[in-house]
Amino acid sequence: MSDDIQQAAAAIETADTVVAFTGAGVSTASGIPDFRSEGGLWEQYDPAEFHYQRFKRDPGGFWEKRLEMYEQVFADDIEPNEAHETLVTLEQRGVLDTVITQNIDDLHGAAGTESLLEIHGNGRRVVCEECGKRSTLEDVTDRIEAGELPPRCQTCGGPLKPDVVLFGEELPETTMQQARTAAREADLFLAIGSSLTVEPAASLPRIAHRTGSSLLIVNLEATSFSDVAAFEFRSDVTETLPELAATLEQL
Ligand code: OAD
Ligand code: ZN
Repeated sequence: MSDDIQQAAAAIETADTVVAFTGAGVSTASGIPDFRSEGGLWEQYDPAEFHYQRFKRDPGGFWEKRLEMYEQVFADDIEPNEAHETLVTLEQRGVLDTVITQNIDDLHGAAGTESLLEIHGNGRRVVCEECGKRSTLEDVTDRIEAGELPPRCQTCGGPLKPDVVLFGEELPETTMQQARTAAREADLFLAIGSSLTVEPAASLPRIAHRTGSSLLIVNLEATSFSDVAAFEFRSDVTETLPELAATLEQL
């Protein structure tokens, strides 16, 4: 295991296929709490409140809690940070092929990442459980605030659900297949700001490692992949990613 920026930048430069896998740690610097750190979302909320069964049983109560939680995720002043921006720079420079994210906060898309796989969905969208029609969170929030609770599809009257993967739901199969393929094809797999604990998302670094990719981890704390990583930076993503990109420029 190495924490040498020069060597890590050289590994990014020389790898044919580089895939980044991100978690809530890329967005903390934008002001969104992660899940499992002190003060994280799972300290503030019981995950059972966002279980699919709870949504089915009590969609109105579910939406009230969800919008309360979203005040921390989709507040007006939340913007992409240096970590999201660096991933865009690396993609534009042609050294980063794909970003796979567990985040639903839309910040990679807002920053401008083009090749993006959102395996837990995107919280800015809402989907009808009956007809599959998609609408925006903004529209549904307005309707809830005007008293429409639970919100219903304007086309078919079906229940509206955030277009994200809730506990008790499957991950979107096509997106997961694309993510598995990307993990298999990667020569270098960057695991950035994730505890790498949540299945099946955490199967992606495992697939990458088993199929011969080197792992480069940037995370404040150790993960269960620390032992097998070729490079590990226990540091802030908003410092280390720009440092890696700046070093790459000088190779
Ligand atoms: P976690 O909260 O489990 O892990 C975030 C990691 O990022 C922690 O290990 C932090 O130490 C680290 N971290 C925080 N800020 C950082 C920073 N500025 N620089 C570097 N590291 C930092 O979040 P995820 O791994 O994303 O799923 O959690 C995965 C899934 O668990 C989420 O997508 C969500 C949750 O349950 C669903 O809701 C389906
Ligand atoms: Zn519908």
